Amino acid sequence: MAIRFLLNGEWRSEDRVPASTTVLDWLRGTARLTGTKEGCAEGDCGACTIAVARPRRGALRYEAVNSCLMLVPQLDGCAVTTVEGLAGPDGALHPVQAALVEADATQCGFCTPGFAMAMFAYAQGGEPAEEPIIHEALAGNLCRCTGYRPIVEACRKIAGLPDSAAQIAPDLQGVQAGMDYRCGDQAYFAPRSLAEIADLRAQYPDAVVLAGGTDLGLLASKERKSFPVTISTAQVAELQRVLVGRDGIEIGAAVTYTEALPHIEQHYPAFGEIIRRIGSRQIRNLGTIAGNIANASPIGDTIPCLMALEASVTLYAKAGSRSMPVEDFIIGYRKTALAPGEVIASVHIPLPRPSQQFVAYKLSKRFDQDISTVIAAFSLSLAGGGVKALRAAFGGMAAKSGRAKHVEAAVTGKPWNAESLKDIDALMAKDFSPMSDQRGTASYRLRAAANLVRRLQFETGDQSAPARVEAL
Ligand SMILES: Cc1cc2nc3c(=O)[nH]c(=O)nc-3n(C[C@H](O)[C@H](O)[C@H](O)COP(=O)(O)OP(=O)(O)OC[C@H]3O[C@@H](n4cnc5c(N)ncnc54)[C@H](O)[C@@H]3O)c2cc1C
Ligand code: FES
Ligand code: FES
Repeated sequence: MAIRFLLNGEWRSEDRVPASTTVLDWLRGTARLTGTKEGCAEGDCGACTIAVARPRRGALRYEAVNSCLMLVPQLDGCAVTTVEGLAGPDGALHPVQAALVEADATQCGFCTPGFAMAMFAYAQGGEPAEEPIIHEALAGNLCRCTGYRPIVEACRKIAGLPDSAAQIAPDLQGVQAGMDYRCGDQAYFAPRSLAEIADLRAQYPDAVVLAGGTDLGLLASKERKSFPVTISTAQVAELQRVLVGRDGIEIGAAVTYTEALPHIEQHYPAFGEIIRRIGSRQIRNLGTIAGNIANASPIGDTIPCLMALEASVTLYAKAGSRSMPVEDFIIGYRKTALAPGEVIASVHIPLPRPSQQFVAYKLSKRFDQDISTVIAAFSLSLAGGGVKALRAAFGGMAAKSGRAKHVEAAVTGKPWNAESLKDIDALMAKDFSPMSDQRGTASYRLRAAANLVRRLQFETGDQSAPARVEAL
């Protein structure tokens, strides 16, 4: 089978592209569309941003993605717009381009195509021209010379453009995405059901399971590795679902952060805030919670949140499915309890209980587009001025995310005030022995984690005796 997609309005059918080729390399090297730039090749700078419309659960809208992290077969059945596709056939500038010109929002121009495409996707999303939203829409793009004020100004002018995905929807309707693609010694499967995934997992035990590719794409982009066999979860309808029931939110393994966000933030606004700080829109439009958990990074942002919320993960294999708490699934540094042949099918987050408060804090060197130094997530239930229950989970404090069980035990059943936290530093040191790295020293991490508990108490408890925050 060939990879079929619309590129700037023209159908492409590609059958000679090795499956691990990044979209960026293909655009620049094969399609000779060199407007899309390579800055960092690791999802940080946004110079490679393109807009992709993927038919998802009956909906179609353009989203900004990093072409450096996406593999060409991921485009099957999609519509792609690059900066070359913006201007009209007569050369008339697209409103996004005109706005950039009018606002003097470009100097060397290297970042400009990426900004233009991030703006193109933002403008069609129906979002208002509010400063925080514009900043969020542009947080995945870096400019080293113009500065951001004129770019933000240009972006403000183009809010609310008509949704051009509607025009291409009929073209994509007949296309049956999902494929069995081979080129040379690389194969890429995009099955359409969980049962097919399980069959393929059994047939190719060493295959790579690909969700959004925001972690795996780095291997292809930065390390120039290729994957002999890739199994994508993206086309499996069962995995694209978010089900909200009386007992919780079930998030399929192929649901992106962007898709999961409204469901999560409705019940847990603080978890929503954490998700909004995962990478950039480009990353969140592809990345998944399942990928974050499977990656089992000690600084994966969703893992402490899921641990604090007593979330569980459902695993699926040919022999059947099983569920376990996320806390038990993460067994070590980048190690999980996933057995050979299994895939993550979904993540289940219980709905909040009446007295439960959920609070999460991310500490990183930059606010946007940065990995956590320490991430803390707390599920707290108070009764009569005291702590009925606390689950406190941390990332960045050990080889794997985990709970601060000494801290939890020390405050449970006690009044929730500054006095009850007098031993917090010692307790934190009993729970964790963090390492020092370029993001922070071990002592910074311990002090910061203890201070986050103090902050939690200050924000949720008796404020008449404010918690003393230790200077860092
Ligand atoms: C620029 C940049 C910024 C980032 N910022 C953050 C951040 O702020 N916070 C953060 O936590 N992370 C961050 N990340 C990391 C990454 O975006 C997340 O870990 C993301 O959740 C990965 O999801 P994915 O769908 O892209 O996974 P993929 O890259 O597709 O896969 C990741 C791993 O999960 C496995 N996997 C995927 N789906 C399944 C499944 N269903 N069953 C079994 N295994 C599976 C894959 O085999 C692979 O090992 C960032 C990454 C980049 C490039
Ligand atoms: S090249 Fe920098 S984000 Fe892709
Ligand atoms: S205009 Fe030069 S990097 Fe932005």
